[in-house]
Amino acid sequence: MTTNNNQAGFTSNFGAIAAAAGSAIGLGNIWRFPYTVGENGGGAFLLLYIAFVFLLGVPIMMSELAIGRRSKQNAVSAFHVLAPQKRGWMFVGFWGILTTFLIYSFYSVVTGWTLDYVVMSCQGGLAGKTPEQVSQVFADFSQSTFWPIFYQVIFMVLTALVVILGVQKGIEKSSKILMPLLFVLMLALCVRSLTLPGASAGVDFLFHPDFSKLTGASVLSALGQAMFSLSIGLGVLITYGSYVRKEDNLFKTSVIIASADTFIAVLSGIAIFPAVFAFGMSPASGPSLVYEVLPNVFNSMAGGTVFAVVFFVLLSIAALTSTISMLEAVVVWVMQALNVKRITSVCLTTGALLVTGILCTLSFGPLSHIQIANLSIFGFLDHLTATYMLPLGAIGIVVFLAWAYPKAQVYNELSNDGKLKAGYFKAYYFIIKYVAPIALAAVLLAGIFGVQM
Ligand code: PHE
Repeated sequence: MTTNNNQAGFTSNFGAIAAAAGSAIGLGNIWRFPYTVGENGGGAFLLLYIAFVFLLGVPIMMSELAIGRRSKQNAVSAFHVLAPQKRGWMFVGFWGILTTFLIYSFYSVVTGWTLDYVVMSCQGGLAGKTPEQVSQVFADFSQSTFWPIFYQVIFMVLTALVVILGVQKGIEKSSKILMPLLFVLMLALCVRSLTLPGASAGVDFLFHPDFSKLTGASVLSALGQAMFSLSIGLGVLITYGSYVRKEDNLFKTSVIIASADTFIAVLSGIAIFPAVFAFGMSPASGPSLVYEVLPNVFNSMAGGTVFAVVFFVLLSIAALTSTISMLEAVVVWVMQALNVKRITSVCLTTGALLVTGILCTLSFGPLSHIQIANLSIFGFLDHLTATYMLPLGAIGIVVFLAWAYPKAQVYNELSNDGKLKAGYFKAYYFIIKYVAPIALAAVLLAGIFGVQM
C-alpha cells in the first residue's frame, strides 16, 4: 500500500487548526445554516444544533482526525491500514468519498453565486434596489444559464489550482489569511441588522425556542446541518488528519474548530434574521435566503457598496477553503486508486465534478422541470447528502473506531502516546461506542419515518 503523503503535512498546530477550521467555516455557516434554521422554525432548532455540535460533532471530529493521523492515509485506505483483516470497513471510506463528491457538486453552484455577487456589488448592481428588486435580481441570475456556470467554473478552477499546489503551499497558507477579517465584518453586519427597525422579531425567532415546532425531520436536519458545517461524516477530516503533526492535541484542536464554526454560524443568524423580519421577508424562503436578504442590509448602511464587496470576497474565500478540503479528499484517493500524479488526479476529478456541478446549476433554470422526490437536482443532492448520507457515514466512522479498532490504540492516538492528559477519554469513548451510534441511528429513523416530537 503506497501512502498518499507524497508531500509534507501541516507545519504547525495553528496551520492545522486554520486548515480544518477553513474546511468547516464556509457557505455551510453563512448560506446553509440560516436557511435551514429558517425552514425549521428558529430557536429550538438552534439549541438542538448546538447540542449536536458539541455532544456528537466534537467526538466524531476527534475520531476522524485520529484515524487520519494514525494511518497517514486517504479516507479509504485509512480503514485498510488500521484494520487490514477487515476489508469491508473500506466501504465507509468509499461512502465518504461519494458523499464528498456529491456535496461539492451542489456546493459549487453556491460558490458561483457568491463570486457573481462580488462582481455585481463591485458594479453597484444591487445598490439602491428595493427588497422586491433584489429578489428579482437573484431569481433572474440563478435561473439563467451562462453566468452562473461561468462563475461556477472559475471557482472550480481556482480550487483545483490550490489543490495542485499541495498542502503546505496551497491549503495552509490560504487558510490562515483573512479569516479574522471575516469575523470582524460579520460583527459589523450583526450590529447593522440588529439596529434596523423591526429587528426584534428576528431576535425572537432565533433565540426564543418554541419546541412545538420540532419534528423528527427537523431534528434530523439539525443533526445533518451540524455535520455538514463541521465537515464531518465523510472522511475529509481523515485526510486532513493525515497531515496533522504528531504532537498536536486533537481534543483541543477539535473543540477550537467546533467553537469557531458555531460562533460564525450564530453570528450569521444574528446578521440575517433581524433583517429578514425588518424587510418583511419569509425566513423559510430556502437556499436563496442569504442572497436576497443581505443586499438589503448593505443598502441600508453608509458605505454599503464597499461593505458588500468586502463581504462577498471574504465569503468566497471562506467557501474556497471548504471546496479545497473537499477536492483534496477526493483527489488523494483518486491518486492512489488510479496510481496517477496529483495534477492528473486534480484534472480528472475536477472534470467529473464539472459535469455534476453544471447539472446542479442548470436545475435552477433549463432543467428545473426535473424533480426527484419533489426536489430539483440541486435540492435533492443538498437534502440527500446532508440529511442522510452524512449521519450514515458518521455511524460508520465511530462504529469502526470503537468496535473494530483496539481501545488502547485509540487512547494512544488521542493522548499522543500518553504525553497528553486525556481526562475526557472515558466520556469520549462512551460516546463513540454507544451514545453516538444509537443517537445517530435514532435521529435518522425518526427523520425518515416522520416522527412528531
Ligand atoms: N463545512 C463546510 C461549510 O460549512 C462544507 C463542507 C462540507 C466542507 C463537507 C467539507 C466537507 O461550508
